Amino acid sequence: MKILVTGGTGYIGSHTVVELQKKGFEVIIADNLSNSSADVVENISKITGIKPLFEKVDLSDQGPTQDLFNRYPGLNAIVHFAAYKAVGESVLHPLKYYQNNLGSLMNLLREMRNHGIRDIVFSSSCTVYGQPDVLPVTETAPIKQAASPYGNTKQISEEIMTDVSKVTPLQAIMLRYFNPIGAHESALIGELPLGVPNNLMPYITQTAIGKREFLRVFGKDYNTPDGTAIRDYIHVVDLAQAHVIAIERMLEGKNKQKVEVFNLGTGTGYSVMDVIKSFEYSTKKKLNYRFLERRPGDVQEIWADTEFANRELGWKASRDLNEMTLSAWNWERRLAGKS
Ligand code: WQD
Repeated sequence: MKILVTGGTGYIGSHTVVELQKKGFEVIIADNLSNSSADVVENISKITGIKPLFEKVDLSDQGPTQDLFNRYPGLNAIVHFAAYKAVGESVLHPLKYYQNNLGSLMNLLREMRNHGIRDIVFSSSCTVYGQPDVLPVTETAPIKQAASPYGNTKQISEEIMTDVSKVTPLQAIMLRYFNPIGAHESALIGELPLGVPNNLMPYITQTAIGKREFLRVFGKDYNTPDGTAIRDYIHVVDLAQAHVIAIERMLEGKNKQKVEVFNLGTGTGYSVMDVIKSFEYSTKKKLNYRFLERRPGDVQEIWADTEFANRELGWKASRDLNEMTLSAWNWERRLAGKS
């Protein structure tokens, strides 16, 4: 079975390529390398012993996307990660985000139709829930007004696929990620943020390695047990494995609806302080941090109801917070050439 993985040199994409290859899928990666490096392809092959095919292509360009599909006949399914993902940047450059994230999805869906490819797994986000009224949040919770153009591209993408599936053979599984962190146990692939990280985990590891002076903890006056905000952190390898199951579900015709949505989280919420403590415990390093004001746009707390994904996909995240923080640290150390 041949799978096209868009954004396959990115953080979640690269881990998913590894898991697909381990299950015997032939993988073709399409990525424009706007936020990743071609070295990732080599590192994937060091892990699995198989070099995935790689095509540098910008999927928001219609012509090159058509060429890609013409050159790879017989694709069985698509896993679509390729997208811009910086929330703050999307507020400053909304058109860039709508053009890229929605344009590439529409080009892909058009080529899927033209080439008779039915199945797509889409990388969505818990950001579609905003601050949920009820926790843990289920897949049927109301979609809240997006807090950023980035979040809006995820909501609109889900709607586009739902509409297209009503009038074409298209089938989609949309995976709503909570907070993916950590890295592959080999430390050969992981998250590679451009410039100053926005997200908590890379900021922690960069502080511990000495690239940042201190971690800014945004807000200590939330209505939570320790006053810091709560998220559902999930190991990126657990997340990647869910994509393989989602692909198999559609290819084997086990999906119950043409469009299905699953939460991918652990079901447990941890505060920012919990993550810091786990990092200090698993790495035996002290972290320099200071409390600052809340970050605008942040929700207070969110964690997933994973019952539907556990039952329907037969999947459950198995790696705990200490394994997440330790693997993130091992990756940072390897990047710094220390291991
Ligand atoms: C986690 C917690 C911060 C950095 C992100 C994306 C979102 C979605 C999920 C994809 C928050 C705090 C952070 C720092 C801190 N991704 N923090 N100091 O905001 O939950 O969501 O991942 O769709 O779109 O934005 O993740 O890692 O940025 O923050 O105190 O330097 O850590 O305030 O409470 P977030 P995050």
